Amino acid sequence: MSKATNITWHDSEVTKDQRQALNKHKSVVLWFTGLSGSGKSTISVELEKKLYELGIHTYRLDGDNIRHGLNNNLGFSPEDRTENIRRIGEVSKLMVDAGLITLTAFISPYREDRDNVRAILDQNEFIEVYVKASIDVCEQRDPKGLYKKARAGEIKGFTGIDAPYEEPASPEITIETDKLTLEESVDTIVAYLKENGYVR
Ligand code: PPS
Repeated sequence: MSKATNITWHDSEVTKDQRQALNKHKSVVLWFTGLSGSGKSTISVELEKKLYELGIHTYRLDGDNIRHGLNNNLGFSPEDRTENIRRIGEVSKLMVDAGLITLTAFISPYREDRDNVRAILDQNEFIEVYVKASIDVCEQRDPKGLYKKARAGEIKGFTGIDAPYEEPASPEITIETDKLTLEESVDTIVAYLKENGYVR
């Protein structure tokens, strides 16, 4: 694919700041990262419900769903995962510009890919949420039976089995899902958003 030339950036007359003021909260990406089965989707779904009840404008992007549409031409090779995360990062940036608290739930196994998303956002617009559970715990849970398939060699390059997961070096939030209940996990994140002035 060749790159487009002769393209010009057009600024909007309504700004992100104005949209945030209208919404009465800041916009930010809550970037959930962790192994398959760690609890990213479960926590982000429940958190979105809670934020909605608090009158907060949100949108959630989830691995399996995005791979059905926007990213349905991508697989799980290192290059495809990087492109997957790059596109999600760009979409998240648009959503933050639209004034939304954006929740993303992708394994996003490479530190560099996550750092690249952080880098395209303004300061304090990227909150890395490490959903931490050991590979043993995730494998025991195996909600989709994928670890079993990976162990049987039916899926190649499965994260945590024969593909890497690089832990976040300094995530803003760490949720240990083998220690906290779902409610405690959600409450921890809501408290962070309040303490740091994202929501009231
Ligand atoms: S990534 O690494 O961020 O690009 O992956 P993501 O877009 O989050 O997609 C992860 C979901 O795809 C399913 N799946 C796999 N995961 C990891 N490795 C391999 N090889 C693989 N093949 C399919 C799996 O259902 C993941 O969903 P979650 O919700 O994480 O369990």
